[in-house]
Amino acid sequence: MNYSDIHIQLRQWYKSFGRHDLPWRKTNDPYVIYISEMMLQQTQVKTVLDRFFFPFLKRFPTLESIKASSIDEILHAWQGLGYYRRARYIHACAQIASPSLPTDPKELVKLPGIGKSTAHAIAAFSKHYPVAVLDANVKRILYRFFAKTEAKERELWKMAEILLDHEEPYIYNQAMMDLGATVCLPKSPKCEICPFASRCMGRESPMNYPQKRVLKK
Ligand code: ADE
Repeated sequence: MNYSDIHIQLRQWYKSFGRHDLPWRKTNDPYVIYISEMMLQQTQVKTVLDRFFFPFLKRFPTLESIKASSIDEILHAWQGLGYYRRARYIHACAQIASPSLPTDPKELVKLPGIGKSTAHAIAAFSKHYPVAVLDANVKRILYRFFAKTEAKERELWKMAEILLDHEEPYIYNQAMMDLGATVCLPKSPKCEICPFASRCMGRESPMNYPQKRVLKK
């Protein structure tokens, strides 16, 4: 399937409506992108932005500075973010990868605490590797776009790869996160302004995808 028409529409949409001011979009340093992705895994953009991203990077500007520090020092800087396992992973990762992170996604996933989506984010955002990022927002877009009521993780990755814009993987992945966060909303999707609307298979009834699980009593 050729999706170049909506890839172009997504690029245009991103130019006008993307969140270009996010500081991790103004760097190609894999370490800085890595820290942002680890923080953003379980913490909202606003919280990361307002309270944690800059102080953490001021205290630990490089992967080498993480390696040279104790786990207690990392945990201290992580205080308030929660999910402290992430801080432990960052410390463990630095012991192996310092002085610098790889940028090949196949190498990145071998590191502790770096899953496929985080590896792809680092590779796509630092070196424009043509790989897809798959977070909760992107999954919702895929469910709706392909009108899937349910899908296993493996199938979601398949869909993500089918829809990926190989020419502009950086823009595509950032735009998908923004589209999920501002247009393809869980409760009231704004299909009338969506750059994918012309080809979205769930357009008529977006709320049907994915199917809500019915809880048994
Ligand atoms: N969540 C995870 N990665 C992100 C990014 N690069 N921009 C916005 N939200 C994100």
